[in-house]
Amino acid sequence: MSDAFTFRSENPVSLSLRPSKFADFRGQARVLEKLRIMTSAARQRKEPLNHILFSGPPGLGKTTLAMILAEEMDANIRVTSGPVIERAGDLAGMLTSLEYGDILFIDEIHRLAKTIEEYLYSAMEDFRIDVMLDQGPNARSIRLDVPKFTLVGATTRTGLLTSPLRSRFTLQARLDYYDGEDLGKIIRRSAALLNIPIEEEAAMEIARRSRGTPRIANNLLFFVRDYSQNSNEKIIALKHAQDALALLDIDENGLDEIDKRMVEVIGENYNGGPVGISTIAVALSEERQTLEEVHEPFLIQEGYLQRTSQGRVLTAKGWKLLGMDKMDGKQQNLL
Ligand SMILES: Nc1ncnc2c1ncn2[C@@H]1O[C@H](COP(=O)(O)OP(=O)(O)OP(=O)(O)O)[C@@H](O)[C@H]1O
Ligand SMILES: [Mg+2]
Repeated sequence: MSDAFTFRSENPVSLSLRPSKFADFRGQARVLEKLRIMTSAARQRKEPLNHILFSGPPGLGKTTLAMILAEEMDANIRVTSGPVIERAGDLAGMLTSLEYGDILFIDEIHRLAKTIEEYLYSAMEDFRIDVMLDQGPNARSIRLDVPKFTLVGATTRTGLLTSPLRSRFTLQARLDYYDGEDLGKIIRRSAALLNIPIEEEAAMEIARRSRGTPRIANNLLFFVRDYSQNSNEKIIALKHAQDALALLDIDENGLDEIDKRMVEVIGENYNGGPVGISTIAVALSEERQTLEEVHEPFLIQEGYLQRTSQGRVLTAKGWKLLGMDKMDGKQQNLL
């Protein structure tokens, strides 16, 4: 067995494939350009960054970018998430314990309770909070200063954020699915970090089937690596990548099971739509939210589905996936 494939105990740092600097982050060029401008100007002024909101489907790099911002700003980052903050006091405690220039990262910020969210408004804008003490006739509030900090929020659902909260972020950056070329680069970088040589075509094959998502690309790479290792191969070749992906039942088009079932339900049960998302969710026994956040955006971006005011409609490409013709819904003899 080649050296590259012997197991060794790696420290957590080398195990992490998460890029820690702008220079290692592939894709999302327009978002990155804005972040570079903001960080370099803030560094020049020796001031904390303005508040930034990242949105987009899971696994595209929201958390990664928050960590990179901390690294690039040489700032401490405190990490929490919307549903974890249960009481206003939790948030107040967190805010007042920050230090000047710290980054507070709130993941799943759309799941923050509305009553708690309101505390954030004054913290973000005026760097102070008014905390209520006691209730009823004894109720009084005290004003606490919050050190100037940067709030970085991440959400898979910008639509669920109230507009007062959304508008307090100086930059709202939406991450999109990655193209094959960028995913190919991410896979080659990960392979290099894992110390496994990979053929260019093998990297591209994994990229094609990664649903435009770096997290999926890395997961597929892990499996392909294991597969190659078991076959005593020194390099990941296209053939191994294809065989390993076939074993995982990964679709040629990179669609996952739910993506495919969603297209099927719309085509076969609802004659191609229009059909509402709640109806689709019931038919699939899936959460409506998951369909809206994870599956629908990908199917729309890949052109299988359209969103109209009446509901979701299959496109010609969607029908083709089902082996049917758009016009009459009849079975076609597709090659
Ligand atoms: N542009 C990129 N370049 C290289 N690797 C990336 C990139 N974006 C993401 N990754 C990898 O993909 C993984 C998932 O990214 P991340 O955790 O930042 O996604 P996320 O958007 O926060 O997802 P979620 O919504 O599920 O929290 C990371 O561990 C990282 O290794
Ligand atoms: Mg995340």
